[in-house]
Amino acid sequence: MSEQSIKRPRGTNDYFGESAIALQRLRTLLLEEGALYGAMEVDPPIFEESRLFHRSVGESSDIVRKETFDLVRKGDKDYTLRPEFTAGVNRLVLENKLYSSPDLPIRFSYFGKVFRYERPQSGRLREFHQFGVEFLDKEVDLDTSLDALLLSVSATQKALGKKVLVQLNYLGSFASRERYKKALHDYFEPKVDQMCEDCKARLLTNPLRILDCKVEADQAIAKDAPSIEDYLDEKDKAEYQTMLSTLDHMGLSYRKDPGLVRGLDYYTGLVWEIYDEENPDFPALGGGGKYSSLMHDIGGPDFEGIGFSLGVERLLLDMSAQRKAELSLLQGPDLFVVDLAKDGKALEIMKRLRGEGIPCYAASFARALGGAFKMADRIHAKNTLVVFEDGHMEIKEMATRNQVPIEEEDLLKVLKGE
Ligand code: HAM
Repeated sequence: MSEQSIKRPRGTNDYFGESAIALQRLRTLLLEEGALYGAMEVDPPIFEESRLFHRSVGESSDIVRKETFDLVRKGDKDYTLRPEFTAGVNRLVLENKLYSSPDLPIRFSYFGKVFRYERPQSGRLREFHQFGVEFLDKEVDLDTSLDALLLSVSATQKALGKKVLVQLNYLGSFASRERYKKALHDYFEPKVDQMCEDCKARLLTNPLRILDCKVEADQAIAKDAPSIEDYLDEKDKAEYQTMLSTLDHMGLSYRKDPGLVRGLDYYTGLVWEIYDEENPDFPALGGGGKYSSLMHDIGGPDFEGIGFSLGVERLLLDMSAQRKAELSLLQGPDLFVVDLAKDGKALEIMKRLRGEGIPCYAASFARALGGAFKMADRIHAKNTLVVFEDGHMEIKEMATRNQVPIEEEDLLKVLKGE
Protein backbone atom coordinates (compact mmCIF):
# COMPACT_ATOMS: atom_id res chain seq x y z
CA MET A 1 0.00 0.00 0.00
CA SER A 2 1.41 3.38 -0.96
CA GLU A 3 2.04 5.88 1.82
CA GLN A 4 -0.34 8.87 2.03
CA SER A 5 1.17 12.11 0.76
CA ILE A 6 2.28 14.61 3.38
CA LYS A 7 -0.06 17.61 3.56
CA ARG A 8 0.00 20.83 5.51
CA PRO A 9 -1.78 20.42 8.86
CA ARG A 10 -5.51 21.27 9.00
CA GLY A 11 -6.23 24.84 10.00
CA THR A 12 -2.92 26.23 8.69
CA ASN A 13 -2.05 28.22 5.55
CA ASP A 14 0.81 28.19 3.07
CA TYR A 15 1.67 31.78 2.24
CA PHE A 16 3.36 32.35 -1.11
CA GLY A 17 3.02 34.67 -4.09
CA GLU A 18 0.16 37.15 -3.70
CA SER A 19 -0.96 35.90 -0.28
CA ALA A 20 2.58 36.32 1.09
CA ILE A 21 2.72 39.86 -0.32
CA ALA A 22 -0.67 40.76 1.16
CA LEU A 23 0.41 39.42 4.56
CA GLN A 24 3.65 41.39 4.45
CA ARG A 25 1.86 44.60 3.42
CA LEU A 26 -0.72 44.18 6.19
CA ARG A 27 2.10 43.71 8.67
CA THR A 28 3.72 46.99 7.61
CA LEU A 29 0.42 48.88 7.46
CA LEU A 30 -0.73 47.71 10.91
CA LEU A 31 2.59 48.26 12.66
CA GLU A 32 2.84 51.73 11.09
CA GLU A 33 -0.64 52.52 12.39
CA GLY A 34 0.52 51.37 15.86
CA ALA A 35 3.55 53.65 15.56
CA LEU A 36 1.19 56.61 15.02
CA TYR A 37 -0.01 55.92 18.57
CA GLY A 38 3.53 55.58 19.91
CA ALA A 39 3.64 51.76 19.96
CA MET A 40 7.01 50.09 19.40
CA GLU A 41 7.19 46.58 18.02
CA VAL A 42 8.17 43.71 20.33
CA ASP A 43 8.82 40.10 19.40
CA PRO A 44 8.48 37.65 22.31
CA PRO A 45 9.11 33.92 21.79
CA ILE A 46 6.57 31.75 20.00
CA PHE A 47 6.53 29.34 22.96
CA GLU A 48 6.47 30.12 26.64
CA GLU A 49 6.27 28.16 29.86
CA SER A 50 2.79 26.60 30.00
CA ARG A 51 2.23 28.09 33.49
CA LEU A 52 2.25 31.57 31.98
CA PHE A 53 -0.95 30.91 30.03
CA HIS A 54 -2.61 29.02 32.87
CA ARG A 55 -2.11 31.97 35.21
CA SER A 56 -3.09 34.71 32.77
CA VAL A 57 -5.45 33.56 30.00
CA GLY A 58 -6.95 31.42 32.75
CA GLU A 59 -7.88 27.89 33.73
CA SER A 60 -11.54 28.51 32.94
CA SER A 61 -11.01 29.78 29.38
CA ASP A 62 -11.59 27.39 26.47
CA ILE A 63 -8.22 28.46 25.13
CA VAL A 64 -6.36 26.97 28.09
CA ARG A 65 -8.80 24.12 28.80
CA LYS A 66 -8.96 22.71 25.29
CA GLU A 67 -7.01 24.62 22.70
CA THR A 68 -3.36 24.92 23.62
CA PHE A 69 -0.63 23.21 21.61
CA ASP A 70 1.47 21.82 24.44
CA LEU A 71 4.94 20.74 23.47
CA VAL A 72 6.39 17.38 24.42
CA ARG A 73 8.24 18.01 27.68
CA LYS A 74 11.90 18.86 27.18
CA GLY A 75 14.07 19.07 30.28
CA ASP A 76 12.22 19.99 33.44
CA LYS A 77 9.66 22.47 32.09
CA ASP A 78 6.38 22.34 30.17
CA TYR A 79 6.11 24.63 27.19
CA THR A 80 3.14 25.76 25.11
CA LEU A 81 2.93 27.46 21.72
CA ARG A 82 1.47 30.89 22.40
CA PRO A 83 -2.32 31.03 21.91
CA GLU A 84 -2.16 34.86 22.11
CA PHE A 85 0.35 37.65 22.81
CA THR A 86 -0.91 39.46 25.89
CA ALA A 87 0.57 37.00 28.38
CA GLY A 88 3.96 36.93 26.62
CA VAL A 89 4.17 40.71 26.39
CA ASN A 90 3.38 41.03 30.11
CA ARG A 91 6.01 38.39 30.91
CA LEU A 92 8.51 40.35 28.80
CA VAL A 93 7.73 43.56 30.70
CA LEU A 94 8.03 41.77 34.04
CA GLU A 95 11.22 39.85 33.30
CA ASN A 96 13.00 42.91 31.90
CA LYS A 97 11.71 45.10 34.77
CA LEU A 98 10.28 47.57 32.31
CA TYR A 99 7.55 48.38 34.83
CA SER A 100 10.10 50.47 36.75
CA SER A 101 10.67 52.74 33.74
CA PRO A 102 9.89 56.40 34.46
CA ASP A 103 8.39 56.64 30.97
CA LEU A 104 4.90 55.28 31.28
CA PRO A 105 2.69 54.07 29.77
CA ILE A 106 4.69 51.41 27.96
CA ARG A 107 3.26 51.07 24.45
CA PHE A 108 4.10 47.87 22.60
CA SER A 109 2.80 46.44 19.33
CA TYR A 110 3.24 42.99 17.82
CA PHE A 111 2.51 40.95 14.72
CA GLY A 112 3.03 37.22 14.55
CA LYS A 113 1.74 33.69 14.63
CA VAL A 114 -0.45 32.23 17.36
CA PHE A 115 -1.73 28.70 17.78
CA ARG A 116 -5.07 27.34 18.99
CA TYR A 117 -6.29 23.79 18.58
CA GLU A 118 -9.77 24.72 17.39
CA ARG A 119 -12.11 22.96 14.98
CA PRO A 120 -11.01 24.47 11.67
CA GLN A 121 -13.61 26.28 9.59
CA SER A 122 -13.86 29.49 7.61
CA GLY A 123 -12.22 32.22 9.70
CA ARG A 124 -11.19 29.75 12.41
CA LEU A 125 -7.68 28.38 12.08
CA ARG A 126 -5.21 26.51 14.21
CA GLU A 127 -2.29 28.68 13.18
CA PHE A 128 -3.08 32.31 12.47
CA HIS A 129 -1.55 35.77 12.77
CA GLN A 130 -2.46 38.48 15.24
CA PHE A 131 -1.60 42.14 15.20
CA GLY A 132 -2.14 43.97 18.43
CA VAL A 133 -0.92 46.32 21.10
CA GLU A 134 -0.55 46.31 24.86
CA PHE A 135 -0.38 49.62 26.74
CA LEU A 136 0.82 49.19 30.34
CA ASP A 137 0.97 51.53 33.30
CA LYS A 138 0.67 51.59 37.08
CA GLU A 139 -2.89 52.70 36.50
CA VAL A 140 -4.20 52.79 32.96
CA ASP A 141 -5.97 56.14 32.56
CA LEU A 142 -8.79 57.30 30.30
CA ASP A 143 -6.53 58.63 27.53
CA THR A 144 -4.55 55.41 27.30
CA SER A 145 -7.69 53.28 27.34
CA LEU A 146 -9.41 55.23 24.62
CA ASP A 147 -6.21 55.42 22.57
CA ALA A 148 -6.13 51.62 22.51
CA LEU A 149 -9.77 51.47 21.45
CA LEU A 150 -9.34 54.14 18.78
CA LEU A 151 -6.23 52.43 17.42
CA SER A 152 -8.08 49.13 17.12
CA VAL A 153 -10.72 50.87 15.03
CA SER A 154 -8.38 52.90 12.83
CA ALA A 155 -6.06 49.91 12.20
CA THR A 156 -8.96 47.66 11.19
CA GLN A 157 -10.51 50.32 8.97
CA LYS A 158 -7.20 51.07 7.27
CA ALA A 159 -6.55 47.40 6.62
CA LEU A 160 -10.03 46.71 5.25
CA GLY A 161 -10.76 50.05 3.60
CA LYS A 162 -14.25 50.03 5.18
CA LYS A 163 -16.08 50.97 8.37
CA VAL A 164 -16.25 48.78 11.43
CA LEU A 165 -18.62 48.44 14.34
CA VAL A 166 -17.41 48.43 17.94
CA GLN A 167 -19.35 46.44 20.53
CA LEU A 168 -18.36 47.20 24.06
CA ASN A 169 -19.03 46.33 27.63
CA TYR A 170 -17.65 47.15 31.06
CA LEU A 171 -16.78 44.30 33.41
CA GLY A 172 -15.92 46.55 36.33
CA SER A 173 -13.36 46.14 39.05
CA PHE A 174 -12.30 42.73 40.32
CA ALA A 175 -14.80 43.05 43.21
CA SER A 176 -17.73 43.98 40.92
CA ARG A 177 -16.89 41.12 38.61
CA GLU A 178 -16.82 38.65 41.50
CA ARG A 179 -20.24 39.91 42.70
CA TYR A 180 -21.57 39.47 39.19
CA LYS A 181 -20.11 35.96 38.92
CA LYS A 182 -21.92 35.03 42.13
CA ALA A 183 -25.22 36.38 40.73
CA LEU A 184 -24.70 34.38 37.54
CA HIS A 185 -23.91 31.28 39.54
CA ASP A 186 -27.17 31.67 41.50
CA TYR A 187 -29.13 32.20 38.26
CA PHE A 188 -27.68 29.26 36.32
CA GLU A 189 -27.41 26.70 39.13
CA PRO A 190 -31.08 25.56 39.10
CA LYS A 191 -30.98 25.28 35.27
CA VAL A 192 -27.64 23.58 34.85
CA ASP A 193 -29.11 20.11 34.20
CA GLN A 194 -30.55 21.41 30.92
CA MET A 195 -27.20 22.83 29.83
CA CYS A 196 -24.21 21.42 27.94
CA GLU A 197 -21.37 19.56 29.65
CA ASP A 198 -19.00 22.50 29.16
CA CYS A 199 -21.44 24.86 30.90
CA LYS A 200 -21.78 22.45 33.82
CA ALA A 201 -18.02 22.81 34.31
CA ARG A 202 -18.16 26.57 33.67
CA LEU A 203 -20.70 27.01 36.46
CA LEU A 204 -18.05 25.86 38.90
CA THR A 205 -14.95 27.44 37.37
CA ASN A 206 -16.26 30.71 35.92
CA PRO A 207 -19.97 31.30 35.26
CA LEU A 208 -19.08 34.33 33.09
CA ARG A 209 -17.93 31.85 30.45
CA ILE A 210 -21.52 30.52 30.14
CA LEU A 211 -22.51 33.84 28.51
CA ASP A 212 -20.06 32.98 25.72
CA CYS A 213 -21.47 29.48 25.06
CA LYS A 214 -22.38 28.85 21.42
CA VAL A 215 -24.96 26.09 22.14
CA GLU A 216 -28.41 27.43 21.17
CA ALA A 217 -30.33 25.96 24.13
CA ASP A 218 -27.79 27.46 26.52
CA GLN A 219 -27.95 30.81 24.77
CA ALA A 220 -31.72 30.81 25.27
CA ILE A 221 -31.24 30.27 29.02
CA ALA A 222 -28.51 32.90 29.20
CA LYS A 223 -30.75 35.49 27.51
CA ASP A 224 -32.49 36.30 30.79
CA ALA A 225 -29.39 36.11 32.99
CA PRO A 226 -28.59 39.10 35.24
CA SER A 227 -26.83 41.99 33.53
CA ILE A 228 -23.38 43.17 34.58
CA GLU A 229 -24.61 46.76 34.65
CA ASP A 230 -26.58 46.01 37.83
CA TYR A 231 -23.43 44.84 39.62
CA LEU A 232 -21.05 47.70 38.88
CA ASP A 233 -20.15 49.91 41.84
CA GLU A 234 -20.41 53.70 41.74
CA LYS A 235 -16.79 54.19 40.71
CA ASP A 236 -17.13 51.67 37.84
CA LYS A 237 -20.33 53.30 36.65
CA ALA A 238 -18.78 56.76 36.68
CA GLU A 239 -15.71 55.55 34.76
CA TYR A 240 -17.80 53.75 32.16
CA GLN A 241 -20.03 56.79 31.72
CA THR A 242 -17.03 59.08 31.20
CA MET A 243 -15.67 56.71 28.57
CA LEU A 244 -18.97 56.56 26.72
CA SER A 245 -19.48 60.31 26.73
CA THR A 246 -15.92 60.85 25.52
CA LEU A 247 -16.55 58.41 22.67
CA ASP A 248 -19.83 60.19 21.88
CA HIS A 249 -18.01 63.50 21.87
CA MET A 250 -15.40 62.09 19.47
CA GLY A 251 -18.11 60.75 17.17
CA LEU A 252 -17.05 57.13 17.41
CA SER A 253 -20.01 54.85 16.83
CA TYR A 254 -20.33 51.88 19.15
CA ARG A 255 -22.96 49.51 20.46
CA LYS A 256 -23.21 48.53 24.12
CA ASP A 257 -23.44 44.78 24.64
CA PRO A 258 -23.91 43.78 28.31
CA GLY A 259 -23.45 40.10 27.32
CA LEU A 260 -19.94 40.65 25.97
CA VAL A 261 -17.56 38.93 28.40
CA ARG A 262 -14.69 37.82 26.07
CA GLY A 263 -13.14 34.37 26.14
CA LEU A 264 -10.10 35.11 28.30
CA ASP A 265 -10.14 35.31 32.08
CA TYR A 266 -7.92 38.33 32.67
CA TYR A 267 -10.30 41.17 31.81
CA THR A 268 -11.55 43.84 34.19
CA GLY A 269 -13.10 47.14 33.12
CA LEU A 270 -13.58 48.03 29.46
CA VAL A 271 -13.84 45.17 26.93
CA TRP A 272 -14.67 45.41 23.25
CA GLU A 273 -14.90 43.55 19.97
CA ILE A 274 -14.72 44.79 16.41
CA TYR A 275 -17.09 43.70 13.65
CA ASP A 276 -17.59 44.53 10.00
CA GLU A 277 -20.38 47.14 9.93
CA GLU A 278 -21.73 45.93 6.56
CA ASN A 279 -21.40 42.26 7.45
CA PRO A 280 -22.18 41.94 11.19
CA ASP A 281 -22.56 38.14 10.97
CA PHE A 282 -18.89 37.80 10.07
CA PRO A 283 -16.97 36.65 13.19
CA ALA A 284 -15.13 39.20 15.31
CA LEU A 285 -12.24 40.86 13.49
CA GLY A 286 -10.59 41.75 16.76
CA GLY A 287 -11.11 42.14 20.46
CA GLY A 288 -9.50 43.50 23.55
CA GLY A 289 -9.89 45.06 26.92
CA LYS A 290 -8.35 46.13 30.16
CA TYR A 291 -6.68 43.81 32.65
CA SER A 292 -5.74 44.88 36.18
CA SER A 293 -4.20 41.85 37.82
CA LEU A 294 -2.52 39.87 35.03
CA MET A 295 0.96 41.13 35.93
CA HIS A 296 0.36 40.37 39.60
CA ASP A 297 -1.00 36.90 38.74
CA ILE A 298 2.21 35.99 36.92
CA GLY A 299 4.38 37.07 39.86
CA GLY A 300 4.87 40.78 39.18
CA PRO A 301 3.93 44.06 40.84
CA ASP A 302 0.53 45.74 40.60
CA PHE A 303 0.60 46.99 37.05
CA GLU A 304 -2.33 47.38 34.67
CA GLY A 305 -2.70 47.01 30.95
CA ILE A 306 -5.09 47.48 28.10
CA GLY A 307 -4.79 46.09 24.61
CA PHE A 308 -6.41 44.37 21.70
CA SER A 309 -5.55 41.90 18.96
CA LEU A 310 -6.85 41.65 15.40
CA GLY A 311 -7.11 38.35 13.55
CA VAL A 312 -5.10 38.98 10.40
CA GLU A 313 -6.57 36.04 8.44
CA ARG A 314 -10.06 37.31 9.26
CA LEU A 315 -9.10 40.72 7.87
CA LEU A 316 -7.90 39.02 4.68
CA LEU A 317 -11.07 36.95 4.45
CA ASP A 318 -13.38 39.90 5.01
CA MET A 319 -11.78 42.40 2.65
CA SER A 320 -13.19 43.14 -0.81
CA ALA A 321 -11.54 41.50 -3.82
CA GLN A 322 -10.42 44.95 -4.93
CA ARG A 323 -8.78 45.78 -1.60
CA LYS A 324 -7.08 42.40 -1.59
CA ALA A 325 -5.81 42.95 -5.13
CA GLU A 326 -4.40 46.35 -4.08
CA LEU A 327 -2.61 44.77 -1.12
CA SER A 328 -1.21 41.86 -3.09
CA LEU A 329 -0.08 43.81 -6.12
CA LEU A 330 3.30 42.48 -7.09
CA GLN A 331 6.04 45.09 -7.39
CA GLY A 332 8.11 43.66 -10.22
CA PRO A 333 11.84 44.30 -10.72
CA ASP A 334 12.95 47.60 -12.28
CA LEU A 335 14.83 45.57 -14.84
CA PHE A 336 14.29 42.09 -16.21
CA VAL A 337 17.27 40.91 -18.25
CA VAL A 338 16.98 38.48 -21.13
CA ASP A 339 20.42 37.05 -21.53
CA LEU A 340 20.89 35.65 -25.03
CA ALA A 341 24.69 36.15 -25.00
CA LYS A 342 25.36 34.05 -21.89
CA ASP A 343 28.95 35.31 -21.74
CA GLY A 344 28.87 36.92 -18.29
CA LYS A 345 28.13 40.46 -19.56
CA ALA A 346 24.53 40.41 -18.29
CA LEU A 347 25.73 39.19 -14.87
CA GLU A 348 28.23 42.03 -14.63
CA ILE A 349 25.66 44.63 -15.59
CA MET A 350 23.24 43.33 -12.95
CA LYS A 351 25.95 43.29 -10.27
CA ARG A 352 26.68 46.96 -10.99
CA LEU A 353 22.99 47.94 -11.03
CA ARG A 354 22.25 46.11 -7.76
CA GLY A 355 25.14 48.03 -6.24
CA GLU A 356 23.16 51.15 -7.18
CA GLY A 357 20.03 49.75 -5.52
CA ILE A 358 18.24 48.73 -8.73
CA PRO A 359 16.30 45.44 -8.33
CA CYS A 360 16.97 43.23 -11.34
CA TYR A 361 17.25 39.62 -12.38
CA ALA A 362 17.75 37.58 -15.53
CA ALA A 363 16.29 34.55 -17.23
CA SER A 364 17.58 32.63 -20.21
CA PHE A 365 15.34 32.24 -23.23
CA ALA A 366 15.73 30.73 -26.67
CA ARG A 367 15.87 33.16 -29.59
CA ALA A 368 12.12 33.93 -29.83
CA LEU A 369 11.67 36.93 -27.55
CA GLY A 370 7.85 36.83 -27.34
CA GLY A 371 7.95 34.42 -24.38
CA ALA A 372 10.50 36.59 -22.57
CA PHE A 373 8.32 39.71 -22.86
CA LYS A 374 5.29 37.74 -21.71
CA MET A 375 7.20 36.70 -18.60
CA ALA A 376 8.31 40.32 -18.05
CA ASP A 377 4.62 41.34 -18.07
CA ARG A 378 3.62 38.52 -15.74
CA ILE A 379 6.23 39.48 -13.17
CA HIS A 380 5.36 43.20 -13.58
CA ALA A 381 8.89 44.16 -14.66
CA LYS A 382 9.16 47.86 -15.44
CA ASN A 383 11.81 47.42 -18.16
CA THR A 384 13.29 44.53 -20.07
CA LEU A 385 16.87 44.55 -21.30
CA VAL A 386 17.84 42.11 -24.05
CA VAL A 387 21.53 41.28 -24.30
CA PHE A 388 21.97 39.83 -27.80
CA GLU A 389 24.54 37.22 -28.84
CA ASP A 390 26.60 39.85 -30.71
CA GLY A 391 26.80 42.00 -27.56
CA HIS A 392 24.45 44.82 -28.59
CA MET A 393 21.60 45.60 -26.21
CA GLU A 394 18.03 46.89 -26.41
CA ILE A 395 15.75 48.10 -23.64
CA LYS A 396 11.96 47.92 -23.67
CA GLU A 397 9.82 50.04 -21.38
CA MET A 398 7.00 47.61 -20.63
CA ALA A 399 4.27 50.20 -20.02
CA THR A 400 4.80 52.01 -23.36
CA ARG A 401 6.19 48.97 -25.27
CA ASN A 402 8.86 51.34 -26.56
CA GLN A 403 12.01 49.36 -27.47
CA VAL A 404 15.30 51.12 -28.30
CA PRO A 405 19.01 50.24 -28.53
CA ILE A 406 21.01 51.22 -25.43
CA GLU A 407 24.67 51.47 -24.40
CA GLU A 408 25.83 50.09 -21.10
CA GLU A 409 26.92 53.48 -19.75
CA ASP A 410 23.42 54.97 -20.33
CA LEU A 411 21.53 52.22 -18.49
CA LEU A 412 21.60 53.67 -14.99
CA LYS A 413 20.43 57.09 -16.18
CA VAL A 414 17.52 55.57 -18.11
CA LEU A 415 16.46 53.34 -15.22
CA LYS A 416 16.58 56.22 -12.77
CA GLY A 417 14.52 58.27 -15.24
CA GLU A 418 17.20 61.00 -15.37
P1 HAM B 1 -9.13 36.98 21.12
O1 HAM B 1 -10.50 37.56 21.05
O2 HAM B 1 -8.98 35.61 21.66
O3 HAM B 1 -8.28 38.01 21.99
O4 HAM B 1 -8.47 37.03 19.69
C1 HAM B 1 -8.37 38.24 18.96
C2 HAM B 1 -8.76 38.01 17.51
O5 HAM B 1 -8.00 36.93 16.96
C3 HAM B 1 -10.21 37.57 17.30
O6 HAM B 1 -11.10 38.67 17.32
C4 HAM B 1 -10.14 36.95 15.92
O7 HAM B 1 -10.16 37.94 14.92
C5 HAM B 1 -8.76 36.31 15.93
N1 HAM B 1 -8.90 34.87 16.19
C6 HAM B 1 -9.12 34.26 17.37
N2 HAM B 1 -9.16 32.92 17.22
C7 HAM B 1 -8.96 32.68 15.90
C8 HAM B 1 -8.87 31.49 15.10
N3 HAM B 1 -8.97 30.28 15.64
N4 HAM B 1 -8.65 31.62 13.76
C9 HAM B 1 -8.50 32.85 13.21
N5 HAM B 1 -8.56 34.00 13.92
C10 HAM B 1 -8.79 33.93 15.23
C11 HAM B 1 -6.96 37.84 22.29
O8 HAM B 1 -6.23 37.06 21.74
C12 HAM B 1 -6.47 38.83 23.32
N6 HAM B 1 -5.05 38.56 23.58
C13 HAM B 1 -6.69 40.26 22.87
C14 HAM B 1 -6.15 41.25 23.86
C15 HAM B 1 -4.99 41.92 23.77
N7 HAM B 1 -6.72 41.61 25.00
C16 HAM B 1 -5.93 42.48 25.62
N8 HAM B 1 -4.86 42.66 24.90
